[in-house]
Amino acid sequence: MRMVDLIIKKQEGKALTKEEIRFIIDGYTDGSIPDYQMSAWAMAVFFQDMTDEERMELTMAMAESGDQIDLSAIEGIKVDKHSTGGVGDTTTLVLAPLVASCGVPVAKMSGRGLGHTGGTLDKLESIPGFHVEIDEATFASIVNENKVAVIGQSGNLCPADKKLYALRDVTGTVNSLPLIASSIMCKKIAAGADAIVLDVKIGAGAFMKTEEDARALAHAMVKIGNLAGRKTMAIISDMSQPLGVAVGNALEVEVAIETLKGNGPKDLEALCIELGSQMVYLGGKAADLAEARELVTENLRNGKALEKFKVFVASQGGNPAVVDDYSLMPQASRQQEVLAEATGYVTEIVADDIGVAAMLLGAGRATKESTIDLSAGLKILKKVGDPVRKGEAIVRMFANKADFGQAEKLIQEAYSIGEEQKEITLIHSVILD
Ligand code: URA
Repeated sequence: MRMVDLIIKKQEGKALTKEEIRFIIDGYTDGSIPDYQMSAWAMAVFFQDMTDEERMELTMAMAESGDQIDLSAIEGIKVDKHSTGGVGDTTTLVLAPLVASCGVPVAKMSGRGLGHTGGTLDKLESIPGFHVEIDEATFASIVNENKVAVIGQSGNLCPADKKLYALRDVTGTVNSLPLIASSIMCKKIAAGADAIVLDVKIGAGAFMKTEEDARALAHAMVKIGNLAGRKTMAIISDMSQPLGVAVGNALEVEVAIETLKGNGPKDLEALCIELGSQMVYLGGKAADLAEARELVTENLRNGKALEKFKVFVASQGGNPAVVDDYSLMPQASRQQEVLAEATGYVTEIVADDIGVAAMLLGAGRATKESTIDLSAGLKILKKVGDPVRKGEAIVRMFANKADFGQAEKLIQEAYSIGEEQKEITLIHSVILD
């Protein structure tokens, strides 16, 4: 087989076979196919697209290019969740104990964050004593016993994807539907999931800006998952304003705990119920989505999910007393409010700008080497649709060393206040196939 022939075949719009796709991915991973040929191929895919079968084969070839996590020692159907990324998205911290409390094993591999705030690992490390460095055997036995555990990401997951993503970044081929869908799905499959629930975000704070693009990505990923033998579903949810009421690590843990107590922000709670229902249904603990929704809602209301959170935290060395005393988590030494510049209703909060503001306060990493301030970030006091008076606080900022000035400027720019009361639709659609 010659790479040049496969580039031309794709350039002519023809479908590649499983063997041809394996040849490309294996060759690129081991270095026998150079960057310039891979770039040409990625550009051919960009213009000619791939069939559903090709997308699945590409996903599997990338999933098998490095370490694959073996979760077979864990009983039951392991359901994973993936979000395409947003601001203030602390769903995993709510969903993991919630779904586990319904009997579905949650064996989650999570990473650290780059950008707005930390990843799930950073957030969990706001809880004193919590650690994620556990070996695979201990991880499996904790999940078997408690139905939930979170482990740090393996060093060599999908090396083909890592290399190809870096190449796409500099060759104008990031924005290709088959390449995005296979890039996301290969990591979920390599992490050992039997079933996958996807949360595809749309809006100013999301990777996909329009409903049409988000739907296409969701359908593509659901197809790939199902063709690969992993039951997969997706929802499309709003990210035109930040989710919930906090952006920052310890601050988001606090909001997640409030949600588990039944006092969470309405949008975060609704999203967790929707995603949780799909996870419980795919995990085989309900006959249909309606029954799953009932079970999930009940466990959020009766305290079982909160109890499971305490067990989860304690099993990984954390102090479960944080549930009743948030001051056990890192606290910022300084706070400052941002005040509304007009009277009316909040009509827009550009999520991306709020994310960057939180990062400037110390909550995120600008580069992989940056250190994160777990106590820093912001609380959103007014969301879209809320009435405000000029001079009233709309955001409270938390920092230690960081300067408030630039973050405040960004927050003011992110907020629009107008005369009309707007409502935001949180869940745009549910994609089942
Ligand atoms: N996220 C990924 O993991 N890959 C992409 O290609 C885009 C977003």
